[in-house]
Amino acid sequence: MGTVSRRQILLGGTALFGASLMPGSNIIRGAIGEELPRPDYMIRAGFNENPYGPSRVALQAIVDSIKMSNLYGGDRRALSTLMGEIHNVPTDHISIGTGSGEILRTAGMLAAVADGSVVCADPTYHDLIRYAERAGSEIIRVPVDRETKHIDLNAIHRAIRRDTKCVYLANPNNPVPSIIEKNELRDFTLDVAKDRMVFIDEAYFEFVDNPDYASMMDLVRDGHDNIVVARTASKIHGLAGMRIGFGFAHPDLTQRINDAKTGAINLLGLNAAIASYKDQEFQEFTLRKNRESLDIVEGMLDETGATYVKSNANFTFIYTGRDIQELNAAFRAENIMVGRPFPPMTDWMRVSMAKPEEMRYFVQVYEKLLG
Ligand SMILES: Cc1ncc(COP(=O)(O)O)c(C=O)c1O
Repeated sequence: MGTVSRRQILLGGTALFGASLMPGSNIIRGAIGEELPRPDYMIRAGFNENPYGPSRVALQAIVDSIKMSNLYGGDRRALSTLMGEIHNVPTDHISIGTGSGEILRTAGMLAAVADGSVVCADPTYHDLIRYAERAGSEIIRVPVDRETKHIDLNAIHRAIRRDTKCVYLANPNNPVPSIIEKNELRDFTLDVAKDRMVFIDEAYFEFVDNPDYASMMDLVRDGHDNIVVARTASKIHGLAGMRIGFGFAHPDLTQRINDAKTGAINLLGLNAAIASYKDQEFQEFTLRKNRESLDIVEGMLDETGATYVKSNANFTFIYTGRDIQELNAAFRAENIMVGRPFPPMTDWMRVSMAKPEEMRYFVQVYEKLLG
């Protein structure tokens, strides 16, 4: 390796290995055959974050806003107007939350306050469900399909009871990065939302590149009154720590959500989001890099014949046959943080996409521990 530093190898991996690195071929192993050294920092592949964010324009907006942080508020209307323009939805259909998590928890609370049960897939993202459960709702968990691990919409339909006040669907789901077929989801949503709230969580919407996928935003736009679509600035915009997210719904439901919310948006997050949503270039860059990382990881998984669910997001979900708690510790010892256990699939490992050069190192460690 001569005078090249360890950090350069990891962070400059594309330059060193890029020319000969064809994702999905055994050249990957050849290319890293040299043994990438352990990085001198922890690679974060456990939280579905954006490894590049915030963008430069968002950072500039944060810096410019710091001197105003003695002031209350900020221009919420500017962010609502921008989101309304981007999604072609009137601003009275938009709630801004401290992360989309606040919108999720509020919806969970509304279901609980109405003495209703909540139906969801299992496993799925926890925020709405956990909050509703703590507030008194019964949670009806419907296992994902045994074979595909995709959300089983028919089974969810069957599980709905008279007292069900909310059906929660993450699309793409998390920790399984699957999607629900668009026509099935549309029919389901229109039918089920006649009598109860259908909450479609689209936190990973921007990452999806799949002809079978569609957002349900147009149902909100068309005026249906029991449908919430949630989006977030945490993922593709890399603003997870700034806590900005959105709910899109009929104005009456938006009003109920806004009345029940308890958070207050902070000025830095608000201005960072305004800057970031105007910055198409950073979103495209993130998508390109995420695809590169997925190609490296899924290429290796295909090559080794591993069982995993093809990603529609910025993470993958791999069957390991091992206890994930133990595997977490083994990866940590190699300076990689992977996802926590996700019951009931505790022998599956969720791996979030870090930078491509970091995922090459992940591949090396995976092959050592699980190959
Ligand atoms: C499916 C899903 N929804 C919502 C969120 C919450 O995002 P935030 O509260 O940061 O907007 C996450 C975070 O990981 C997620 O995976």
